[in-house]
Amino acid sequence: MFCTKVTEGVYQATKNVEGILFEGLWDIPRGVSINSYIIKGDKVAIVDGMWDEESVDELEQCLVDLNINKEDVEYFIVNHTEPDHSGWLVASGKINPNAKIICNKKSKELVEHFYGIDDRLMVVEDGDVIDLGQGHKLTAVMMPNVHWPDTMSMFDEKTGTLFCCDAFGSFGSVPEENYDDKLTKEQIDFYENEAVRYFSNIVASFAMPVKTAIKKCAELDIKIIAPGHGIVWRENPQKIIDDYARYADYQKGVAKEEITLIWGSMYGMTKRGVDRIIKTLEESNIKYNVHSVPEDNWGEILSSAWNSTGIILAMPTYEYKMFPPMSAVLHEMGKKKVQGRKAFRIGSYGWSGGAQKELDAILEEGKMNWDFIEPVEFRGRALDEELDLIEARVKELIEIVKQTVNN
Ligand code: FEO
Repeated sequence: MFCTKVTEGVYQATKNVEGILFEGLWDIPRGVSINSYIIKGDKVAIVDGMWDEESVDELEQCLVDLNINKEDVEYFIVNHTEPDHSGWLVASGKINPNAKIICNKKSKELVEHFYGIDDRLMVVEDGDVIDLGQGHKLTAVMMPNVHWPDTMSMFDEKTGTLFCCDAFGSFGSVPEENYDDKLTKEQIDFYENEAVRYFSNIVASFAMPVKTAIKKCAELDIKIIAPGHGIVWRENPQKIIDDYARYADYQKGVAKEEITLIWGSMYGMTKRGVDRIIKTLEESNIKYNVHSVPEDNWGEILSSAWNSTGIILAMPTYEYKMFPPMSAVLHEMGKKKVQGRKAFRIGSYGWSGGAQKELDAILEEGKMNWDFIEPVEFRGRALDEELDLIEARVKELIEIVKQTVNN
């Protein structure tokens, strides 16, 4: 655990988590940090917390290092009850069994159901202020559905710090000095990529609530963004706010001038078409991403798709339907609301088609509103004239993507 000073009277205790599936589902090859914050006025509050009970000893040591008496910790503030932030709550009593657990009406329900804690709870509403003394007044700012219905932030009037939990967070393990003013441009770029990945995997379904939260942020004099995951933005907090606004806008379709190719092949027939697609993209000077299913993890695919205005799907028919791993990924894209993309599909079939029918059903169910140019389907391996047709259609898609982004 790293224990560092954020600003006057505000400290961060952060711990990297690696080698797990986040939410039991998402691969995080570059890890994730769990950030907790200690605010010291006359009273002390710990905002957010640790994932697990075992980390409480390290948090205690952090308090010792900061010369803070455990008995002075009056509040544990639960901005969000997902257990990556609240998993330590039962063990938090080791720090101070008499401290109040501050939550809101929604999070109170889950604190009780997840942890069986129904005493020591103090419920706050939007705009309520917790005065810690020495100028540290924490205002509760409700930000429902960023990421769960219970989510809120705390805003410290004295330092202008927004403790925003999942909002403005990113994947990626962090160094001890995980502050934007201490990082190189390359490191900032790394966390931007990890932020898109985090957004598309975890928050994407809630892009509209993100926009609402950003409007609320505009009313605050924010000087520091202190999220529950990723780096702390002290020098340029507006950057991550603007980045999140962009990511939210990508939901409806006009994203970057990029194309993501997602492909799967059973015996190499569809792969022949894929090779021509890649060659055409390579020669066309457009940024593109390539993912194969089932080999690549969904997190990476979603992240690329979220950034891309254009999508190309290449998959065979399988038992009168779509190649199953492609179907699974597309269903997930529907749930994450990857909408309004410009798209093209190719695929091989043996005895009959069927992929298109299932694709139509998935798009309809997910209200994805993708705009497809005419697909190229071929029986068995693609013939030379079919490969030429694929190349022409890919070029057509590239032009559509460029026009869409630049108009
Ligand atoms: Fe970082 Fe929704 O929990």
